[in-house]
Amino acid sequence: MIKSFPDKMPLVDIIKVTKVYPPDIIAVQNVSLAIGKGELVFLTGMSGAGKTTLLKMICCIEKPTKGLIEVAGYDLSRINQTKIQKLRRQVGVVYQDFKVLPKQTVFQNIAIPMEVAYRSPKEIRQRIDELLESLRISHKRDIEAGKLSRGEQQRVAIARAAANAPPLILADEPTGNLDPEVSSYVMELFNQLNKAGSTIIIATHDESIYKKSRHRKVKLRHGLFSGHVSHKQLPLINS
Ligand SMILES: Nc1ncnc2c1ncn2[C@@H]1O[C@H](COP(=O)(O)OP(=O)(O)OP(=O)(O)O)[C@@H](O)[C@H]1O
Ligand SMILES: [Mg+2]
Repeated sequence: MIKSFPDKMPLVDIIKVTKVYPPDIIAVQNVSLAIGKGELVFLTGMSGAGKTTLLKMICCIEKPTKGLIEVAGYDLSRINQTKIQKLRRQVGVVYQDFKVLPKQTVFQNIAIPMEVAYRSPKEIRQRIDELLESLRISHKRDIEAGKLSRGEQQRVAIARAAANAPPLILADEPTGNLDPEVSSYVMELFNQLNKAGSTIIIATHDESIYKKSRHRKVKLRHGLFSGHVSHKQLPLINS
């Protein structure tokens, strides 16, 4: 679905989207944003700006109150559950609260998406070793995820999202609990994945990871975009 989607078209197209949580909390307000296939975009903004809400709508955890979101050309409000599940298998998500399975080991947590994709046990082992090494947590491979520090759990969540090198990755504050050195390893991994073809959206208020980056930065303020750096082919539409 996503892999065969044409280049140069918005892979994620957010069109005039508003999200109101009951009773009247406006989290995202009339926001439009087009993200091209192969882009790496930083979604920035203060706490409460609406970053998580926007990511949740892209991966169908929340529904827009108004407006439209298309992923790989599919209108998310119109596709059926089977298609949503198929689409979700191609999206790696790093949740802000990690969502690691506490009773499963680090290895088992990261293996989940690869097992779903019918990867061979050998391939799974090799990929997990590679990911653990790049995130510097090889020594925790067989420990239950619930016994890890928050920074370690965060890296397990990142490795799990990256395991299949999915065509779309949504990462919510992926360096929120990490020191600068480990954050730089995380960004190395994301850059590698992006070079290999993954489209990546990173929600963050960690200036150190985006300040010097050449990639596009989009800033949300109280649910609205402001001070954005527009993209050459896919201008950000403020409406
Ligand atoms: N489930 C919910 N029910 C009601 N209000 C919510 C819910 N989730 C988020 N909000 C509100 O929506 C607004 C945007 O929240 P959101 O979590 O998207 O912001 P954020 O930019 O991710 O913040 P942070 O940087 O702290 O993670 C906030 O005012 C928040 O209180
Ligand atoms: Mg958030």
